[in-house]
Amino acid sequence: MRRAIYPGSFDPVTFGHIDMIERSAKIVDELLVAVLNNSAKNPLFSVKERVSMLEEITSHLPNVKVTSFDGLLIDYANKVDASIIIRGLRAVTDFEYELQIAQTNRIVNPNVATLFLTTSLEYAYLSSTIVKEVASYGGDISHFVPERLIERIYAKYNKES
Ligand code: PNS
Repeated sequence: MRRAIYPGSFDPVTFGHIDMIERSAKIVDELLVAVLNNSAKNPLFSVKERVSMLEEITSHLPNVKVTSFDGLLIDYANKVDASIIIRGLRAVTDFEYELQIAQTNRIVNPNVATLFLTTSLEYAYLSSTIVKEVASYGGDISHFVPERLIERIYAKYNKES
């Protein structure tokens, strides 16, 4: 069975992530969407909240499971017996960092492959950071995240839709 991890911060999940999840789920047998539990990053949403949002928006995909992890991704891949790590590339600017991480992970464990998917063009500009920036000013985020998550994001900034 081909099990892959799609790791990230997902703070919050965007249409770009969802597109990646849907496309990846067609390629592998099982996809673990893994939320990084990184206390150093001071996230907007707790890991529990992010997992819950991801579970809601992936509930239509039977081979997708949402999990969380701390520590090194490559160790987590080993722990859950995943042979593929999936990462999205939006633009050339993503490439250098992602290449460095992928090479590092490959040195540590050559049995885990990093698979890069280019993001769909309509989401090439999109990031969780952009969503937070727009939401913090009470701007329209309906183009960036699913309708059902909008209230929860605004609530973090005491804004209403
Ligand atoms: O959504 P993001 O913030 O781009 O995701 C980055 C993530 C979580 C994939 C990356 O930071 C990660 O794998 N962190 C865990 C620690 C690790 O394994 N780092 C890479 C080896 S140096």
